[in-house]
Amino acid sequence: MNEKINLEDIISLCKRRGFIYQGSEIYGGLSGTFDYGPLGVMIKDQVKKLWWKRFVDDRSDMYGVDAAILMNPKTWVSSGHVGGFSDPLIEDLKTKKRYRADHLLESAGFSVSGKTLEDMDKMIKDNKIKSPDGNDLGDVRQFNMMFKTNIGAIESDENTVYLRPETAQGMFVNFKNIQDTFHPRLPFGMAQIGKAFRNEIAPRDFVFRVREFEQMEIEYFVDPKGWEVSFENFQNEIKSFFNDIGLDKDRLHELEIPAEDRAHYSSRTVDFEYDFPIGRKELCGLAYRTDFDLKAHADGSKVDLSYFDEENKERFIPHCIEPSFGLDRAMLAILSTAYTVDTLGGEERVVLKLAPSIAPYRIAVFPLLKNKQELTDKAKEIWQGLRNKASSMGISPAKIVYDETQSIGKRYRRQDEIGTPICLTVDFDTLEKGTVTVRDRDTGEQRLMKVEDLEDLIR
Ligand code: GAP
Repeated sequence: MNEKINLEDIISLCKRRGFIYQGSEIYGGLSGTFDYGPLGVMIKDQVKKLWWKRFVDDRSDMYGVDAAILMNPKTWVSSGHVGGFSDPLIEDLKTKKRYRADHLLESAGFSVSGKTLEDMDKMIKDNKIKSPDGNDLGDVRQFNMMFKTNIGAIESDENTVYLRPETAQGMFVNFKNIQDTFHPRLPFGMAQIGKAFRNEIAPRDFVFRVREFEQMEIEYFVDPKGWEVSFENFQNEIKSFFNDIGLDKDRLHELEIPAEDRAHYSSRTVDFEYDFPIGRKELCGLAYRTDFDLKAHADGSKVDLSYFDEENKERFIPHCIEPSFGLDRAMLAILSTAYTVDTLGGEERVVLKLAPSIAPYRIAVFPLLKNKQELTDKAKEIWQGLRNKASSMGISPAKIVYDETQSIGKRYRRQDEIGTPICLTVDFDTLEKGTVTVRDRDTGEQRLMKVEDLEDLIR
């Protein structure tokens, strides 16, 4: 692990190279929102593809869905979000700034595990805890984190709808549709990738805690007899997926969540934590949601959401195992794992050691000099030739980039910083002997290679 790096280094690289920008930056930003730039989108897109491949395409028991973000508000009453999806809020009585009471207590060295709102209020008062600005604090109260809006032309309580705070409910409400259309046998799952919104009291730590983020979730329905087997399978699959995207297994930790800290719907939760530059924090969660959600929606909608087991002639409500991934936290884990500062040729450099499977570009092609047309023509010919063959090599043509701006040294620095594993330089030997210089991102080593052998290298 690269001990020296901190979050500011990563934020600065993300802006400098076009991975992630502050949301609405020209207007001074909007707290808790970030915009992904071209290179960020390319990584994110690869992560989603690898996730979908592992959890949907490579299996025969998964059904993909893409549910609407706006849902009938009764959904959120049944799911428990209207009543209980809240964080403990506390206000600085002087500045009126608002904070998470649990975060203030934790930074003051207190454990909030299993503590109620009243417990936290008492702890703050008894210990005379002040706001970060040193002022007195008010009472701790619940703050519902769902964003509200109105549907239709009239603003009233009757037409209030919510931006979904998790993608999960879009799958539970489609459970009957999937049963009626595809008649799957248990166990089977539904998978979805999409945006979720939470009005976080204190968004912070770059894309770690934001108000608009993307989730990749699975609701996997099982017979309650033997749910443990599916739970353990997902524990392993989650670790394999994090390996697919190049995370460091030594920085990944499984944490069994005690009953008093679990969400209201869960009978077992394992959080997968990661050593981020901001410390060890939750990256993704795996929960055994029992029959809580299907039962709650069956009660709320008066629609039968049971399952008939033909073999045992038994009718019951399936139980659910939920692996829930946050894509933005996965991005932060990827970037902070790959971010490396080392010395090459006596000079310090920043290099993003991304797994080739998720690097924005696999290969960059350069002419040695940009003012020699015979070199730029040859470099473009090689670049175009590789792009034409990209699909047959299993990659998108967009993964092979051409670069002739600035000096060769600056091009290498730029490609190192955006994580391109291989750079090819076209020089006068290319014209005479048909060789190019191949440079390895991680070691900086260079070797000569015949143009016709490049395909094998890429494969
Ligand atoms: N359906 C279950 C669920 O939503 P969660 O633990 O609240 O569970 C799942 O969220 C994942 O979503 C988290 O592990 C995290 O990766 C991501 N996540 C949650 N809140 C987030 C936020 N404010 N900003 C970024 N990611 C968030």
